[in-house]
Amino acid sequence: MIKLENVCKVYNNGRANQTTALKNIDLEIKAGEMVVITGPSGSGKSTLLHILALMDEPTSGSYLFDGEMISGMTDRQKSEIRNRKLGIILQDYGLVDELTAIQNVELPLMIAGKRKRAARMAARNALRMVGLSEKERQKTSRLSGGQRQRVSIARAIVAGAKLILADEPTGALDSVAAGDFMELMTGLNRNGVTVVIVTHNETVANQCKRQLRLVDGEIIP
Ligand SMILES: Nc1ncnc2c1ncn2[C@@H]1O[C@H](COP(=O)(O)OP(=O)(O)O)[C@@H](O)[C@H]1O
Ligand SMILES: [Mg+2]
Repeated sequence: MIKLENVCKVYNNGRANQTTALKNIDLEIKAGEMVVITGPSGSGKSTLLHILALMDEPTSGSYLFDGEMISGMTDRQKSEIRNRKLGIILQDYGLVDELTAIQNVELPLMIAGKRKRAARMAARNALRMVGLSEKERQKTSRLSGGQRQRVSIARAIVAGAKLILADEPTGALDSVAAGDFMELMTGLNRNGVTVVIVTHNETVANQCKRQLRLVDGEIIP
């Protein structure tokens, strides 16, 4: 599903504040895996996740995702793949707070040109899967942190993502909500979705079969 070869990421190349965030990353993740990425602050975890999510580009090296060479694609091609195959759960959830829960979940389907009725049905189904049916008409600004995250999960899965990526998903949650999050992820993974989670949380990390550790931009064995 994922193959990174010799991926490097340098921010501010050639300037005084040049930072090498990733060094020669070789990484293969197979379809159906559930992988956790740990490592100290500043070790390159978010940079790696953003590259995997097609939100950022490596400075050098190649990225093969689901049989397609990402390196060299246009932004338009990448956003099309992102919309169709990826579910991304970011730290700030990235919700549109003026919209209701169900409108947020529908958004990627509307952007993809789905009909309103089909989009609404899929969004309702996704909200049911994350246990948030009763909040569908609430504006997301009025939901709790855990509930806002569940809206972002529903949005991530509504289009049938093959790969779910999450950056520090439990950082702002209490242990019960963190447990619920992991239950949702393991359930999706059991249904064949590939899951990659960046986390500091040991309990979360220990629920994933494969653990990768980043230190100073390198994956250490
Ligand atoms: N947009 C950016 N511009 C410049 N430097 C950045 C940027 N994003 C991250 N960095 C730097 O890259 C390194 C890795 O950052 P990051 O991937 O956010 O690490 P982590 O998520 O593990 O804390 C850090 O030294 C950070 O300061
Ligand atoms: Mg980070």
